Amino acid sequence: MTANTNDAPVEGVSPTPVKDRVVIFDTTMRDGEQAPGASMSLEEKLELAKILEDMGVDVIEAGFPIASNGDFESVRRVAEIVTESTVCGLARASAADIERAGEAVRPAKRGRIHTFISTSPSHRDHILRMTPEEVIEQITGSVTLARNLCGDVEWSAQDATRTERDVLRRCVEAAIRAGAGTINVPDTVGYSYPTEYGEIFRDLIENVPGADGVIFSAHCHNDLGLAVANSLAAVEAGARQVECAVNGLGERAGNAALEEIVMALRVRGDRLLFDTRIDTQQITRASRYVSAITGFPVQFNKAIVGKNAFAHESGIHQDGMLKDRGTYEIMQPTDVGQGGTNLVMGKHSGRHAFREKLKGFGYELGANALNDAFTRFKELADKKKDVYDDDIIALVDDALARGAERISVKRLRVVAGTDGPQQAELTVTIDGAERSATATGDGPVDAVFNAIRLVVPHTAALRLFQVHAVTEGTDAQAQVSVRLEDGGHIATGLAADTDTLVASAKAYVNALNSLITRQEKTRPPVAQASGF
Ligand code: KIV
Ligand code: ZN
Repeated sequence: MTANTNDAPVEGVSPTPVKDRVVIFDTTMRDGEQAPGASMSLEEKLELAKILEDMGVDVIEAGFPIASNGDFESVRRVAEIVTESTVCGLARASAADIERAGEAVRPAKRGRIHTFISTSPSHRDHILRMTPEEVIEQITGSVTLARNLCGDVEWSAQDATRTERDVLRRCVEAAIRAGAGTINVPDTVGYSYPTEYGEIFRDLIENVPGADGVIFSAHCHNDLGLAVANSLAAVEAGARQVECAVNGLGERAGNAALEEIVMALRVRGDRLLFDTRIDTQQITRASRYVSAITGFPVQFNKAIVGKNAFAHESGIHQDGMLKDRGTYEIMQPTDVGQGGTNLVMGKHSGRHAFREKLKGFGYELGANALNDAFTRFKELADKKKDVYDDDIIALVDDALARGAERISVKRLRVVAGTDGPQQAELTVTIDGAERSATATGDGPVDAVFNAIRLVVPHTAALRLFQVHAVTEGTDAQAQVSVRLEDGGHIATGLAADTDTLVASAKAYVNALNSLITRQEKTRPPVAQASGF
């Protein structure tokens, strides 16, 4: 990469001030999951937590424990397995919420309770029906209770950017007095403007008693496409924590994108003298995983992680790049773990090389999982002329998504073409016993899904069917996402195969397996409960 990220002074150049560090707080599993349809299973959250921890994320907000038993369990299990990052659970300003969050993060080596209340006139009048004084009383009560349960407490002023400044200052002061160590100032509705957002932080940091003893945090939504710019403005103004989500996942237009914040800080270290602990080479893997488990595609021209983020098509650009990469490239694909489409391995490659390759992508598989993945790699290399990095990543993600499934696809034969009806003959195993059916449909995919409905009768409705080619060429693997919904429970299935129909069948069955094991998951009520 072109930016100097080394803190050591360069001879003959005025010394670079030592970099301060920005805490990266990832909320993909909490605010990210609040995006309609972005629900993740417990297993997916545990895998994502490991990816985030490996990547160097400082704080993982793993869920909203009071929201459902499923959310509670996710936060608790993440707290049990993560040792390097702080694990955080969200709570409204009510005793029940805070106690549940405290219980969920208790197993964590480093746990945090994140409690919030709305402070703006709009939310006070229409949601809370409270005066500013009543809100302040709630803040004191909630933060005090949280501090009694956990040494690390973050407090958030929901809709802070639309709050009268004097009220916001008093709320922040109350939270600091009650023991909050991190003060989050969310732009909940994505309304703020960079200079304005920065000014709010300057004001709070300069004028609130005790502000110098806490960390200020930015939390920006992207309704006007300003989430990343606002977050960086907050850092310039003194914020030392940024809340963000992989791929910018989140409510409505999403949260600030983790990858964009991290790379802006890294590449423009000359301008913003703050770095993060993130191992940037793991960014692409995290992005792909989040996209795969949510079924939310990453737009081609998305900064940092889009398929075209490093593609140079025009002749002028290509010519410049051949002469010097720096002419049109401010960072290299490898800086963010995009291996491009290098031809990596073939059918003669050995297990050792395969394991080393996986390590390079950040996967440390146990012996059984490695054997399984290696066998599948060999099968793929037999079918496909060229095996690329992306093929191997898709194959391993597919194996991880599969896990220990009760239902699995054993055999599939499909008749397709111009003369319908298309027909699928399917055999699955359910808890080891085979079951077969033949079905027709309006197209081959419909026939396959109808056959699954015959062998495993169920009421779930199909909400998403999405296919994308992992690499280029007609022999590319298809990666398929299927989302099913049953009685408000949502599950996303994922599969990759060189045969699109086989991948479709496996993805559907994968979603069904998740639904079967999925714990009950409901959304919290809109109104904020009060316990003080
Ligand atoms: O956007 C927001 O205000 C939030 C809070 C709950 C932190 O997500
Ligand atoms: Zn939010």
